[in-house]
Amino acid sequence: MSDTQQPLVLVSNRGPVTFDTDGTITRGTGGLVTALTGLASHRRATWIANAMGRGDADRARAAKGRAFSVDSPAGGSYDVRLVISDDLAYERFYSVVANPMLWFIQHYLWDLSNAPDVRAEEVEAYEYGYKIVNQDLADAVVEEIDGDDSPVVMIHDYHLYLLPQMIRERRPDAFLHHFVHIPWSQSDSWRVLPGKIRDELYRGILANDIVGFHTRSYRRNFLQCCEDLLELEVDHKQGVVRIDDREVWVRAYPLPIDAAATRAVSRRARVREHEDELLRRRREHLILRVDRADLSKNVLRGFSAFDLFLEQHPEFRERVTFMAQLMPSRTDVPEYREYLERIEALVAVVNHRHGTPDWMPIQLKLRDDLEEAVAAYRHYDVHIVNAMFDGMNLVAKEGPIVNERNGVSILSENTGAHEELGEFALTVNPFDVQALANAIHRALTMSDEERAHRADGLREIVLRRDPGDWIDEQLVDVRRKTSGAKADDDR
Ligand code: F6P
Repeated sequence: MSDTQQPLVLVSNRGPVTFDTDGTITRGTGGLVTALTGLASHRRATWIANAMGRGDADRARAAKGRAFSVDSPAGGSYDVRLVISDDLAYERFYSVVANPMLWFIQHYLWDLSNAPDVRAEEVEAYEYGYKIVNQDLADAVVEEIDGDDSPVVMIHDYHLYLLPQMIRERRPDAFLHHFVHIPWSQSDSWRVLPGKIRDELYRGILANDIVGFHTRSYRRNFLQCCEDLLELEVDHKQGVVRIDDREVWVRAYPLPIDAAATRAVSRRARVREHEDELLRRRREHLILRVDRADLSKNVLRGFSAFDLFLEQHPEFRERVTFMAQLMPSRTDVPEYREYLERIEALVAVVNHRHGTPDWMPIQLKLRDDLEEAVAAYRHYDVHIVNAMFDGMNLVAKEGPIVNERNGVSILSENTGAHEELGEFALTVNPFDVQALANAIHRALTMSDEERAHRADGLREIVLRRDPGDWIDEQLVDVRRKTSGAKADDDR
């Protein structure tokens, strides 16, 4: 991994580890933590994140709010600084503004004739929640880089759009790099936000030196938004936005997975136990999906398509199981709670319609169990990722490198991963339920040669880059911009 000599600070909502009140340490969840783990444990970097619960807050207080060193149970050691915000401010920040408001805008999830209503509650959540938590983290960053010459601050995700400007005002010399892990939606989707809020968010993120996305298409959307919504001067070819006599580079760095780490998990004893159980119970074919129970993942249409498939191809009854491992997520947000209920209700309907006394067509597992998921990765025949919109979708990359059956990937064209893997997957429009039903049939009846060809292709692409390359690509750009180089159009 290449090195800049400058001190490095990472900032994200979730940190690499969380503490229980008894001091037990758990690895932080989500793709972002996976992506940054290598960076933070392989070079001098301080990772600043929000304290997530009482255990984190206790640990932060014990460290007097300063950075401390911690060994992650998943390996690696980090310098971490956990920031405590007021509970109500955090609740407004996370459960009203970041999720759902921004998340829904950026995944096109709002059903605009019904929602969102922007009222005092939402505006206050922005003023006294989103802004406060961003300010608390900005204060910690400024304190952390105090005395450092030309520090580099790498900011992550949609929770922190205001933070760059808050840092820039106090440390104009800092190099600010922001990676957005979710899609950047087209300009009209942003018009649901009151103009003042929208302007502040954009000016906040445009205080960065570089803004990075997973794909060229999100980069394109971001540039277009700056032109449409802020009337800024944009160079679409080079990926540059000009604002206040500064240049902001807008770049695409697709996030790879850590294949060695995923394969190491697949060798754990607990994975073997789950495999034994799975193999004892498996039918002729196994269809798998593994997701956070998020509305953007399109779980309901996935089950509806399976329902349709079973109706149209009765010859597959009792021969195939659809295993869905869904990790409950953001259950403090009403839309997410309701979504889980709708998932359970639909599974009951499909199982009732097609099931027999000894065959349950859909096996629903509502839990977060990496080892159980990896055991299933090894043995699926078909892997479904039908997200409506998804920044990258790392599951689409993990499955193929662990799977042992040349399983076929069915992949939504609206995932970031599709830009890389599309050629070797069965591409689906996530809204087209019949197309997904057809893809399931095609996958289950595909020749062995075609399966092998596609599986080899997927593996080859996934293994081409690792998270170290991803970080290097970004640090190269940090160095190039610092040294006054011009933006090129290769990214
Ligand atoms: O995709 C953005 C992201 O921050 C991922 O890192 C992660 O998988 C997901 O969202 C986690 O969301 P939350 O922090 O709400 O659990």
